[in-house]
Order: sequence, then structure tokens, then C-alpha cells
Amino acid sequence: MSNKTILVTGGAGYIVSHTSVALIEAGYDVVIADDLSNSSAGAVDGVRRITGTDVPFERVDCNDRAALRELFERYRFDGAIHFAAFKAVGESVDEPLKYYDNNVGSFLSLLETMRLFGVRNVVFSSSATVYGQPDVLPATEASPRKPANSPYGATKQICEDILRDAVAAYNSAGGPEEEGLRGIALRYFNPIGAHPSALIGELPRGVPNNLIPYITQTAAGIRAELSVFGDDYHTPDGTALRDYIDINDLALAHVTAIGRMLNDRQRQNYEVFNIGTGVPVSVLELVHGFERANGVKVPYKIVARRPGDAEAVWADTTLAATELGWRATRTLEQTLRSSWRWEQQLKK
Ligand code: UD1
Repeated sequence: MSNKTILVTGGAGYIVSHTSVALIEAGYDVVIADDLSNSSAGAVDGVRRITGTDVPFERVDCNDRAALRELFERYRFDGAIHFAAFKAVGESVDEPLKYYDNNVGSFLSLLETMRLFGVRNVVFSSSATVYGQPDVLPATEASPRKPANSPYGATKQICEDILRDAVAAYNSAGGPEEEGLRGIALRYFNPIGAHPSALIGELPRGVPNNLIPYITQTAAGIRAELSVFGDDYHTPDGTALRDYIDINDLALAHVTAIGRMLNDRQRQNYEVFNIGTGVPVSVLELVHGFERANGVKVPYKIVARRPGDAEAVWADTTLAATELGWRATRTLEQTLRSSWRWEQQLKK
């Protein structure tokens, strides 16, 4: 029996490169499609070296329907995982049309092309950003979504809704099973860390917006000091709480989600899962944890809160554990070591 083939879009980025490794290690054939507008082909080389496979890379803009159709003509896909999206919150405020066009447009083209070719299983990369500041913590999948505070966040909500509606309309209840569409949205909390080989990891362009790349660059001397955004939150040490999930654990959640749809062909409904650890960690805990795990110093200063930041967000992970059988297994120390190994090899 031949392997199942999974299309991963946005394939040369951080989360996708780790997910591609996990899919290949689980026995899937993977085709990576990306236009490289915001990522580098180096990530694909890393995937090839780690897995020892010549994973195909196709330079395709997922917003280009003709190009996507041509891709689907050349491969017979069993499912797709859609990562292709811009993700800089601040930039999305300055250039909303670019974000709506790319993030929503590419998902619509993918779903339409899937329908055209009878490809029925799709995983969408969503984000805990849809919860805003949850009223009750930890956030469950049933927690209300809050009005998005950036076009980036809005695109995640819109794409979730598109998937929900498409699955409801095109599921095969009462009709031929071949025609159904199945969809899972994974709401990522804060993905951090790198592959243990340090061959793939997060490669921010310019000054990092996210905490871990800023920490690793400060420890490496590229940045003078980290600015900790606010120490007057209503949290134990005054700094904001997040749920930092290891990228390798997160990658495995995709393998489980795609497998759930491929292995249970009766499944019809659209599903949403939180992908986090369930453990809140403060900014200062992360900084000091990084210092301890790696024996390095991270100079920092406390500055004002960053506008738009939530005070505390962490996941209730019960649903992913009971339904997907997935849970995070790496310790924070392991993850923080992998972040530092990755940063150090970047200099070489
Ligand atoms: C951010 C985005 C979120 C997106 C996610 C993608 C915002 C408001 N949210 O999440 O929509 O899905 O990235 O990875 O941009 N921090 C510092 N100093 C820094 C950087 C961050 O103190 O230099 C703090 C932040 O205030 C926050 C925590 O570290 O409390 C985590 O920040 P970050 O890594 O940017 O993630 P989020 O803001 O949670």
C-alpha cells in the first residue's frame, strides 16, 4: 500500500518545517508548497537532512489558483495542512489588505482546489489569539472568541469560520462519502524551541517581535538587552502569563489531527483543538528559566506594557488529550535548551 500524501502549504516556515519532519517520521509522504515570500528554502534543506528524504518542494503561491490546480494535477493528495499566512501583528495593522488578501485568499483557493480534486481532509493553523483575553482561565475550545484586535487575528477567525461553514455544507451526511469535507482547526498557544538536531528552528527577519527569539539574540549579544513589556499585571510576579508549547510537540499534534480524519472516514464534523501545555509561565520565569537551562545571562529591563497584549492566556488541553490522544511531553528546560542550540548554530 502506498503512503498517504499530505500537502503542507507555507512549507518553508518555522512550524511547517517541524511538522513536515513529524509527518515524514510517521510514514507520510509530504509535498511542501511555499512562495518563499516570508521564509527560506534553508528550512526545506533542514527537513531533508533530518529525515534523509528528498521531500519535494514546490514554489507555489497558494493565492494563485491556476498554480494550485497545476500542483493538484501533478500529485494525488490525501489531505492538506494549511500554514501559508503572514503573522506579524503590527504589520497587519499597517497593511490590512495585504493580510486579508494573503491569509484569507490562500485558504479559499486551497479549499476550492481541494473540492475540485476531491481532497477531503484539511488542518488549519489557527491561534490562541482568537480568545483575546479570556474571561475564564484556562481557555477551553468553548470559550468565546473575542473581537480580534488586529487584522492578523481577524484572519484567523475568518478562516476558522470558512472551514466550519465549508465542512457543514460539503460534508457527506446522507450523501456519498467521497464528497465530504473534514476539517480541524488547531489553536496554537505560544510555539517555541527548535528541533533537537538544531537543523531547523525559528528564523525571524529583522528585530524579533516574539519573546524567545529576542531572548536568544540577547543571550548571543546581537541585542543589548531584552525589554520586558510590563511588570504591573495582576499575576504572581507582575509579568504576563503565556502557555509556551514545544514546537516538536506541536508538530505531532498535526500528525494526530490528520490521522484522525484519514482513519475515521465517517467523521463529518468540523473540530477545534487547543494545542498548548496547560501551564502558565510568566515572562520573567521564561527569562530566568532560559538562563538556568543554558548557563547564560539575559540582560533585561522592565518597560511599559506592549499595546494590545493580553495579561494571561493559557490552554485547557483536556479535549486534545481525550479526543486526539495528544499531549505535550517535552519539559520547558528541554525546549529552552533547544532554542539556545539553534541560536548558537546560526552564527556558524
Ligand atoms: C504574539 C501575537 C499573537 C501571535 C503570536 C505568534 C501579539 C499581541 N500577539 O503572541 O497574535 O499569534 O505572537 O507567535 O503580538 N514580550 C516581552 N518582550 C519582548 C517580546 C515579548 O516582554 O521583546 C512578552 C509579551 O509582552 C508577552 C510575552 O512576552 O507577554 C509573549 O510575547 P510574544 O512571544 O510576542 O507572543 P504573544 O504576544 O503571546
